[in-house]
Amino acid sequence: MRILIVGNGGREHALLWKIRRDEPAAELFATRPNAGMAALCTGVDLSPTDVDGLLEWAGEHGMDLTIVGPEAPLAAGIVDRFQEAGLAIFGPTAAAARIEASKAWAKGLMSRWGIPTAAYETFTEAEAAEGYIRHAGAPVVVKASGLAAGKGAIVCATVEEAVEAARGMLAGDDFGGAGDTVVVEEFMEGEELSIFAVCDGTVAVYLLPSQDHKAVGEGDTGPNTGGMGAYAPVSLVTPALLDEARRRIFEPTLAALADEGAPFTGLLYGGLMKTDEGLKVVEFNCRFGDPETQVILPLLKSSLVELLRTVADGRSVEELTPVFREGAAVTTVIASGGYPGSYEKGKAITIPDGLEDDDLTVFHAGTRRTSEGGLETAGGRVLAVTAVGASVSEAAERSRAGAAAIDVDGAFFRRDIGWRERARTQEST
Ligand code: AMP
Ligand code: GLY
Repeated sequence: MRILIVGNGGREHALLWKIRRDEPAAELFATRPNAGMAALCTGVDLSPTDVDGLLEWAGEHGMDLTIVGPEAPLAAGIVDRFQEAGLAIFGPTAAAARIEASKAWAKGLMSRWGIPTAAYETFTEAEAAEGYIRHAGAPVVVKASGLAAGKGAIVCATVEEAVEAARGMLAGDDFGGAGDTVVVEEFMEGEELSIFAVCDGTVAVYLLPSQDHKAVGEGDTGPNTGGMGAYAPVSLVTPALLDEARRRIFEPTLAALADEGAPFTGLLYGGLMKTDEGLKVVEFNCRFGDPETQVILPLLKSSLVELLRTVADGRSVEELTPVFREGAAVTTVIASGGYPGSYEKGKAITIPDGLEDDDLTVFHAGTRRTSEGGLETAGGRVLAVTAVGASVSEAAERSRAGAAAIDVDGAFFRRDIGWRERARTQEST
């Protein structure tokens, strides 16, 4: 079997790592792989958004399955093109990917179908947005509608801050074209959860619930990043809460997408908030989350390839039940100094020999080989150190110790990944 992974970050390393375990004999390929991925596959020197190039390459090299990591190629229609050419690919069509690529469209879909989410309005004119913000009051959230690498949502504590954010997007050029339409929405209070559903267009199967740590600083302080760590499972997600997520959010959303002519095949990522009024959608993503994937896949005992292939081949996932091992996983992200602001690349990385074992894996994100064969940084998020243990506390200890043992010039990491879960379990004992 030949499998191509599109993308080259920590999420894609985790996908590749799991696929290698599922299918030891498969031939694996990835676009411009980072140093960790390069050890597991053959590199393909094409950009993840070069849809024409990828289509031609996959056809020529007889790929049996292509798995798309990031949202940009999905929004650009890579799945539509592969399907037209009769090539199996895991991911949603461009029409279905709008659930992430256009927040304005996603909010409209939720409102048409009564899917619980924050109250909102969309704007293309700064003055109208300002009037609404002044009327609504703070706190309030201002979001660029288009793809903005996870940075397009601004939680504003004051009306002035919100007006400035909306003006920056609508009258200025903040977030480029992604900020030409702005969503202003009600601030919701509660704990956030990530729930991943593998969908075949009609039916979904659910992976373990996880929680991301988006803020750069310990205690969830400072600006948002792509994610500084994650853990799974989340004890807050009881069977009853998961049932609520299915019945009130995922099932109606899948039905809505199918009814509106955009059935969702792929990974539907629900970023949900547990509010006093029940679960509400913060956002949907049309792909695996990063770094949540780095904790979910190390716990998945059953085959990921079978799950993704079933969807890519157009079959139903109804009979498939993913099986997870007992215990918990925690990942700690090591980031370049300065991230999520500007940072330098090319800093030396030293990973001690023998650090990794059955329960500790170092997933690479922004890494590359130097000409001398050493390892250096090539991005904001550099590595994700995942540990598996009997509990979140145990896994967190190991993950943190693993991150501390790795030397990356000028880098930093959060030492408190999983703190909400640890606080909860301490409360209950
Ligand atoms: P998004 O890009 O929509 O996922 O938003 C990024 C982050 O901003 C979320 O993970 C939340 O922490 C926060 N956020 C977004 N929308 C809201 C909201 N309506 N209320 C409170 N926090 C929000
Ligand atoms: N972990 C956040 C994301 O993947 O968008």
